[in-house]
Amino acid sequence: MSNCVLIPDYKADPARYEEGRMEYRQCGNSGIKLPALSLGFWWNFGGIDPLESSREKVLYAFDQGITCFDLANNYGPPFGSAEETFGRIYRDNLRPYRHEMIITTKAGYHMWDGPYGFGSSRKMLMTSIDESLRRMGLDYVDIFYSHRYDENTPLDETMQALVDIVRQGKALYVGLSNYPVDKLLYAARYLQDSSVPCLIYQGKYNMMFRNVEESMLHTLSNLGIGFTAFSPIAQGILTDKYLNGVPADSRLGKGHYLKQSDIAPEVLAKISALNDMAHERGQSLAQMAVAWVLDNPVTTSVIIGTRTVEQLRDNLGALNHTHFSDDERRRIDEILR
Ligand SMILES: NC(=O)c1ccc[n+]([C@@H]2O[C@H](COP(=O)([O-])OP(=O)(O)OC[C@H]3O[C@@H](n4cnc5c(N)ncnc54)[C@H](OP(=O)(O)O)[C@@H]3O)[C@@H](O)[C@H]2O)c1
Repeated sequence: MSNCVLIPDYKADPARYEEGRMEYRQCGNSGIKLPALSLGFWWNFGGIDPLESSREKVLYAFDQGITCFDLANNYGPPFGSAEETFGRIYRDNLRPYRHEMIITTKAGYHMWDGPYGFGSSRKMLMTSIDESLRRMGLDYVDIFYSHRYDENTPLDETMQALVDIVRQGKALYVGLSNYPVDKLLYAARYLQDSSVPCLIYQGKYNMMFRNVEESMLHTLSNLGIGFTAFSPIAQGILTDKYLNGVPADSRLGKGHYLKQSDIAPEVLAKISALNDMAHERGQSLAQMAVAWVLDNPVTTSVIIGTRTVEQLRDNLGALNHTHFSDDERRRIDEILR
């Protein structure tokens, strides 16, 4: 990370918590509130991305009242570099504001070579949290997530590692991500019995991908566990960017995770109809997509992954109009049927 533009005199905007800028939602039955929008570091903040662009987005987000930054051990690319980017910005600019920030990280997917570098074993989780704290230059994270259920590790082993990470002071809260409902129920009970309740569940949720509606959202609501949604814009599909071809700088153009089949002609026809509807609502399609997830009362926070500060600004505009009438919801369902 050589191309550093230090902003030594950065002072957070004194108006960042003023009424109307950001909404903060209670996270389940806990005492903590999360911003309606969190900033995610999966792509766009790695070692291959310019540090100054990452810094601009992070500081702009914080000035807009985004207090929650979502990381994982393997975000980048390369693995670990998003945490290093965050650590650099934290050290240069945000250290005085540590007590105002919710910093999260995760472990569970592939991180390093050999038999201990993936999965949810005690060895993996305990090693990974230490490495994440080192990369970010932190004493503790606010939320440590088990990134996925691992069928090769007893759930008790994974949950006890989470409990011990909290007891060691390396995380204030724990969360679960990508768990099936039955495993979540078992895990939540284990954590509750250990006096380290599960704070939050992180799952994929957007207008086009609604699996969590089957039983997860209802379960979380019953258990008093918060819900944070990732990929609200379906990684850029729920915007107008692919309606006239594939921009070279887009996630699909760069071959990052998305495939050409994700924008098949029948998908683009639906996107085009949604785009018209968003304009009728006075929003960009990205804003309508974020608003749609926020309109669900179970949603605590929506994690947006933005490549540019302009995208971030656009997504923040979603907060101005999050309500959908029954008729609008029906229309969206019909378009996406
Ligand atoms: N727990 C998990 O397993 C898991 C999995 C995935 C993600 N996450 C978390 O969720 C975060 C968000 O995920 P995501 O990146 O998939 O979210 P997303 O917000 O659905 O997609 C982000 C992409 O959408 C495009 N975009 C965003 N705002 C836009 C706008 N206003 N106009 C046009 N395009 C816009 C950009 O694509 P271009 O780059 O093409 O411009 C951007 O890279 C991640 O960073 C991570 O923190 C967690």
